[in-house]
Amino acid sequence: MSSAKIIAIANHKGGCGKTTTTVHLASELAELGHRVLIIDLDPQANASLHVGKKHPSEVETTTAELLLGDVSLLTDALEEDTNFGNVSLIYGSLNLGRTEDQLKDDAPRPSEELATKIEFLKDLYDYILIDCPPSLKLLTSNALASATHVIIPIESGSQYGLYGVTDLINHLSKIRRVNPDLKLLGALLIKHDERQNVCKLIKLEASNQVGHLLTTTIPNSTKVNQAAILQQSLIQLDKNTKVRKAFESLALEIITLVQ
Ligand SMILES: Nc1ncnc2c1ncn2[C@@H]1O[C@H](COP(=O)(O)OP(=O)(O)OP(=O)(O)O)[C@@H](O)[C@H]1O
Ligand SMILES: [Mg+2]
Repeated sequence: MSSAKIIAIANHKGGCGKTTTTVHLASELAELGHRVLIIDLDPQANASLHVGKKHPSEVETTTAELLLGDVSLLTDALEEDTNFGNVSLIYGSLNLGRTEDQLKDDAPRPSEELATKIEFLKDLYDYILIDCPPSLKLLTSNALASATHVIIPIESGSQYGLYGVTDLINHLSKIRRVNPDLKLLGALLIKHDERQNVCKLIKLEASNQVGHLLTTTIPNSTKVNQAAILQQSLIQLDKNTKVRKAFESLALEIITLVQ
């Protein structure tokens, strides 16, 4: 059995599509027959609210407890019963808001706690997707230090879509000191519309600044918010929409790239 590909979805810019990418890439990979785990590292717990059957505030063992506690918490933390078939979840929670300070004070290697804790999961899953919070602090560092690959979602329709992206690229080089094999899969253009000039400009700049662009782009669609409100995948909502097909293409592209 091959070891799981661990993909961090990271960008410290808020609202650029990290959670949406995590959730729908997960459901498409599962639809294609893969065993998938989502790890929610964001105090906002948006991925957990979408994919989880429980409210994050009711969950005893979330990524917050797992990061600070013993590896034996893993069995409690791992939830296999979610709203998406073949997708497991380690919930995030508001408690993550305090975790960075606690890690700094108590952990022997503050940015490598997640890597140690999820070592045992590599044989159980084909893909582990980590949803990062909108910051470049310790939670994101933990995601990047445990990942084999990283995707950077960029909001294509916004003129500020690339703001700060060079900081993220610099951060990746720092993380490579502890995780030398981390590969950048590329920037993923979200809410992309090839006809709009601002999108064309962002595409060009993203290619310059990030270096790699994923071929697949994700269009703007109201289905995305609907799916989140209904706690459904885009496949459940309407599998024939353009945005659903884009996430399917993304999954196929990622599978080819990580082989
Ligand atoms: N392709 C899309 N079309 C329309 N709306 C979208 C699309 N992708 C994301 N959105 C919406 O944009 C908002 C931000 O997306 P999302 O929550 O995925 O970003 P995020 O990077 O995870 O945000 P945060 O930094 O707060 O964690 C959400 O309301 C989401 O539903
Ligand atoms: Mg998010």
